[in-house]
Amino acid sequence: MEFNIALLPGDYIGPEVVAEAVKVVDATGRRYGHRFNWHRDEIGGASIDKYGVPLKQEVIDLCRRSDAVLFGSAGGPKWDTGERRNPADTALPNLRRALGLYANLRVFKPSPALVNASTLKPEVIKTVDFIMVRELTGSIYFGEPRGVEDTPQGKRAFNTMTYTEAEIERILRTGFVLAQQRSKRLLSIDKANVLEVSVLWRQTATRLAKEYPDVELRHMYVDAAAMIIVRDPGSLDVIVLENLFGDILSDEAAVLCGSLGMVPSASLAGLPKGKTFGLYEPIHGSDPAQAGKDADNPLATILSAALMLRYSCGLEVEATAIENAVNRVLEKGYRTWDIMEPGKKKMGTREMGTLVAAEVK
Ligand code: IPM
Ligand code: MG
Repeated sequence: MEFNIALLPGDYIGPEVVAEAVKVVDATGRRYGHRFNWHRDEIGGASIDKYGVPLKQEVIDLCRRSDAVLFGSAGGPKWDTGERRNPADTALPNLRRALGLYANLRVFKPSPALVNASTLKPEVIKTVDFIMVRELTGSIYFGEPRGVEDTPQGKRAFNTMTYTEAEIERILRTGFVLAQQRSKRLLSIDKANVLEVSVLWRQTATRLAKEYPDVELRHMYVDAAAMIIVRDPGSLDVIVLENLFGDILSDEAAVLCGSLGMVPSASLAGLPKGKTFGLYEPIHGSDPAQAGKDADNPLATILSAALMLRYSCGLEVEATAIENAVNRVLEKGYRTWDIMEPGKKKMGTREMGTLVAAEVK
């Protein structure tokens, strides 16, 4: 089969990690007889440098014409004026919204080879296997009014957390259906003791639960959930939450997987049905400190590319082959700096990608 993929490497380590994912997908294509046509363009700071804007309409159109989008990272200090929002950092949220990809699935399933890579106890890490369903196109990321103003008492800055019932309902349904496909337990996270948005969220979840009688719905405040993620992560299966809470808790949960550099994600318009268009992105940022050193971990991007094959290309066997290849490379003791342990072999970004590509069977 043949696929058209929009490739948006972005900034700093983005191009380095994306190059390795392309290497692994192309190797998989050769082994299984598929062809991937990569259509590369710029996003974020790289787009500002080339086109003067962080996200061109032509890039959004390219994504819409493609079977899927593979993304690296966007933003960083080079484009930070210190005055207003870093324009390079706005590109990714705006792309997600322009493409209507409101459901971000973040997979937290540590590789068995990395149970000792976390700062948490291996007995705890072994129990971890959950998916976060993060709302991606609403909330305080986009809410109006927003801004900074001068007042007689000094500056005042403000943002708005806002959700319509329809936006809440569609992401909760994504969570309910995913729960039906897994353990039939759904944990809905909010801050309903403080926020009106969360009260509406909780009411909507409770109302929808009647339509999914086979799913056991639980509610939890976000502060308590932050604690459970490190105290008892094995109790989690499908969790659903709004955009900013999901952003924060996903970096915390990445510690369970050994590193931010290990967690893949798929941004979709609901759950995949057949071949579904999606944007595939590692959950980490552009890591300016490591950029250009051939040092950073490409595995989150490689694993995101595996999700792309599974959901957008309908290639389940090939997706699993990539995931198994990653696990075998880790079992053989190869590591990047972020998951390095004593006695293991430290690799660069390119070596890691080459090792995984060679292991795809
Ligand atoms: C993420 C990232 C982004 C977000 C940034 C880069 C805008 O942190 O995907 O978690 O906040 O959504
Ligand atoms: Mg984040």
